[in-house]
Amino acid sequence: MTHTDDVTQTDDMTIFQLGGDLPVRRVGYGAMRLADGPDDPRGPEARIWTAPADRAAAVKLLQTAAEAGVTLFDTADAYALGAGEDLLAEALRPYGDEVAVATKVGVVRPSPTEWVPLGHPAYLRQQAELSLRRLRTERIDLLYLHRIDENYPLAEQVGALRLLQEEGKVRHIGLSEVTVAQLEEAEAVAPVAAVQNLYNLADRGHEAVLDHTAGRGIAFVPFFPIAMGGHAGPDGPVAAVAREVGATPSQTALAWLLHRAPHVLPIPGTTSERHLRENLGALGVRLTPEQFARLDQS
Ligand SMILES: NC(=O)c1ccc[n+]([C@@H]2O[C@H](COP(=O)([O-])OP(=O)(O)OC[C@H]3O[C@@H](n4cnc5c(N)ncnc54)[C@H](OP(=O)(O)O)[C@@H]3O)[C@@H](O)[C@H]2O)c1
Repeated sequence: MTHTDDVTQTDDMTIFQLGGDLPVRRVGYGAMRLADGPDDPRGPEARIWTAPADRAAAVKLLQTAAEAGVTLFDTADAYALGAGEDLLAEALRPYGDEVAVATKVGVVRPSPTEWVPLGHPAYLRQQAELSLRRLRTERIDLLYLHRIDENYPLAEQVGALRLLQEEGKVRHIGLSEVTVAQLEEAEAVAPVAAVQNLYNLADRGHEAVLDHTAGRGIAFVPFFPIAMGGHAGPDGPVAAVAREVGATPSQTALAWLLHRAPHVLPIPGTTSERHLRENLGALGVRLTPEQFARLDQS
């Protein structure tokens, strides 16, 4: 386990100062799954292609999340071809600066089953301009490069985001699915406030990135934090510890992430108010070092 006396960490262990100046609660909300209709596939096969069929329910859930204390919402221009950003703008308008919205550019969707990196700097700029319009804001709180496109120099892709930041259109820059080497290359071009990589109890391929970002003021934002629901079951790897601490398996899986290091900010996604409140409850779950270690070794 990495311990850090990160300067961006406040005394309140439920808060992280994103980019050193934007306080966010450490359990955010991933809005990717607010898309499509009831007959569309869920889980790994989800299309994330159209605006949610029940828009009113999605708006209500997002507003419930804000009321319940979520301050970091995660979306992307690629989610439902921009409809995800439009939905967040509508739902979160009453909350103004009380909430931060992170979005991503750099992945194009030619069909419901394809997610293709596209890092031409002019395209990244255009997409950021479209994100600004859909989010109805003059500055994006956190803009991620959704994927690095091998067909363009990394410095030019991050450079496009840096230019947007210099113009005041982007507050903080993030990267998604990067290695330590790519992060270091990007940091030579622009300050990086967050890295969003796949990471959960069952998939720890990005351990090195998590450790590298620790203590450097960079948030590590694990996506699929409860393994797309895989850690929620009563017989999953977290169930025994969950029973001991009087929490649900999802809360325990999230608590393991929160205990992993203070710069870890999971963004669980859900379409259910019950699951939303349950996931936020992970902030209050305390694991002993022994329980943490047992989960860590599972
Ligand atoms: N950067 C990237 O490339 C990338 C890739 C993928 C995702 N993301 C981001 O990461 C976020 C999180 O990923 P995700 O939503 O796909 O995966 P996840 O958070 O690991 O799991 C979400 C799934 O788990 C279920 N769930 C949530 N809370 C639950 C609970 N308490 N009990 C039981 N089931 C629960 C949800 O179903 P219900 O709706 O029934 O609750 C949903 O199907 C996304 O929303 C997106 O913002 C980023």
